[in-house]
Amino acid sequence: METNYQYHIFSPYRVCPLGAHVDHQHGLVTGFAINKGVDLWFNVRKDSMVRLHSETFEGEVEIDLAKRTEMREKHWGDYVRGAKYAMKKRFDLAYGMEGVVKGSLPVGGLSSSAAVLVAYVMAMAKANGITLTPFEVVQIASEAEREYIGLNNGILDQACIALGRKEGLLFLDCDSNEYRVIGRHSHMPDFEIGIFFSGLTRNLVNSDYNLRVYECKTAAWNMLAYHEQPLKSFEKTFLRDIPKETFDKTRDMMPTRFARRAEHFYSEYRRVRQGVTAWETGNLPLFGKLVFDSCESSIRNYECGSPELISLYNIMRPLQGIYGGRFSGAGFKGAVIALVDPAYKDGIEHKLTEAYLEEYPEYSESFKVFWVKPDDGARFV
Ligand code: GLA
Repeated sequence: METNYQYHIFSPYRVCPLGAHVDHQHGLVTGFAINKGVDLWFNVRKDSMVRLHSETFEGEVEIDLAKRTEMREKHWGDYVRGAKYAMKKRFDLAYGMEGVVKGSLPVGGLSSSAAVLVAYVMAMAKANGITLTPFEVVQIASEAEREYIGLNNGILDQACIALGRKEGLLFLDCDSNEYRVIGRHSHMPDFEIGIFFSGLTRNLVNSDYNLRVYECKTAAWNMLAYHEQPLKSFEKTFLRDIPKETFDKTRDMMPTRFARRAEHFYSEYRRVRQGVTAWETGNLPLFGKLVFDSCESSIRNYECGSPELISLYNIMRPLQGIYGGRFSGAGFKGAVIALVDPAYKDGIEHKLTEAYLEEYPEYSESFKVFWVKPDDGARFV
């Protein structure tokens, strides 16, 4: 059936080994696009209607791009409406599309939401003869998620999905928006990425995700206030704008919960810098250790991990053949990822499955292991 369509976009899922929960504070992040994701097949219509159905979720979506953006309905169609909202802020959209969308892995932790948004933005641009740079796609898809869907996130997901490259690691500064892909060093050992789905699915808008963002901003506000610095509006306040020395001087003065969120930010900044050097020099064991440390900080300082994800992390940390691993994405539910020496894949899968299901037998049907590789960003196939 998919072959009946003129266009096909593949929009990959993403994995973020280092730089977790810092994009919204304008920190430094790293990531990969992977060789699993969302496929969108479509034909351009002669009118402004969009008609899509999903092979993953129930129901159809029918919207008119010429009309005002509709309210959210808590349905997968919200992502189509979100893309329309963000595109219409910039462009007139005269032509719609009809097609089908399909995800290749269970939803949770790999940013399927950003992957579909990127695909819809690219498709609406194609239908209307609009040329977008990959970074414009990142910005539009990210506005759709922040302003329409209501998640106060940064641009990590969309950046990995649109800018990731098969041959290397994406390194992005979420303050200056400068990015580069760092190729693999010739001495770097081979690796694959393991994705271990806890069995929990999630919806970030209903998690503590937004709360954590406000806690980070509150820590930043506290630091500015202690130093008699002018305050900016909450929306324009970011930890990145406050030097680490200020944090060192003020951390004991603020409630410990806020200090812990800031501690995660500053320590993650250091880990990303060290990680980039490790990657550049082909030192995968050091890179992997920093990924483990990042997860440790997510648990202790950022306090984001469900018991299931923390258990998966604890089981995998001592396993032979894992360079490093952490919660994927926000880490409230979803998946844990790991960079793995391919020679150890089977043993890791076996031990992890056995130990996890012994603790959580209720997930015996839904717990899943997948092996993936870095891939190029979203594209027409
Ligand atoms: C989610 C958000 C991203 C980022 C990660 C955590 O995936 O959408 O913006 O904050 O969590 O690193």
